[in-house]
Amino acid sequence: MRTNVIAGNWKMNKTNAEAVEMLTELKGLVKGIEDVKIIIGAPFTALSDAVRTVEGSNIAIAAENVYPKASGAYTGEVSPTMLKAIGVKYVILGHSERREYFHESNEFINEKVKAVLENEMTPILCIGEKLEDRENGKTAIVTETQIREGLAGITPEQAKNIIVAYEPVWAIGTGKTATPEMAQETHKQIREVLKDMFGTVAEEMIIQYGGSMKPGNAKELLAQPDIDGGLIGGASLEADSFAQIISAAR
Ligand code: G3P
Repeated sequence: MRTNVIAGNWKMNKTNAEAVEMLTELKGLVKGIEDVKIIIGAPFTALSDAVRTVEGSNIAIAAENVYPKASGAYTGEVSPTMLKAIGVKYVILGHSERREYFHESNEFINEKVKAVLENEMTPILCIGEKLEDRENGKTAIVTETQIREGLAGITPEQAKNIIVAYEPVWAIGTGKTATPEMAQETHKQIREVLKDMFGTVAEEMIIQYGGSMKPGNAKELLAQPDIDGGLIGGASLEADSFAQIISAAR
């Protein structure tokens, strides 16, 4: 009943020209695929041309961050209104790199979730435990706190339009993937928390897995009942490997 959502997160990679080149190739490779939702998260400088490049195709564009105000004296920041105006449909929020390097709190991420929803875009809320949390048996409590605080004040109706991405921090860019069973266990716990917050709507919500997902391991991860797609870093930079992950999600 849930459609797999495969999203790339390019992070701080690709010039504008490189972005257009990759998306042009990807468009050809995924043409006609309707049973998987395809998203590419691109840096701010590439967003406008990225949206233009995928126009009329089955690929949507995500921003990788936003500032939760409509406009004003916030030097260097980009507002949800600006993203919406150029045709961005999704915004990746609360990525562990932003939590770690830019000290983003659950409270601040919650403001961003609300600002993105108010502008009729879909937040992709990233959550996930660090290695020490997992080793100390704290995975469930850490992810639950990130969900409850990140989605505080959200209604069940709004929750329908939110994607959660579970990314164990120790698996990001390390080549270490959670085993499918390990990931499923946490995805199930996450869905239980969402059920407690939003009721039956939780059954419709997409929970992606992220962390060293690649063509070789995507199929078995995506076969798990509560894994509804992937948020892919490294393997989303090349059209070919990203398209292979999309095929694995069909
Ligand atoms: O948001 C995607 C991500 O952090 C995973 O990165 O390179 O391990 O696929 P990677």
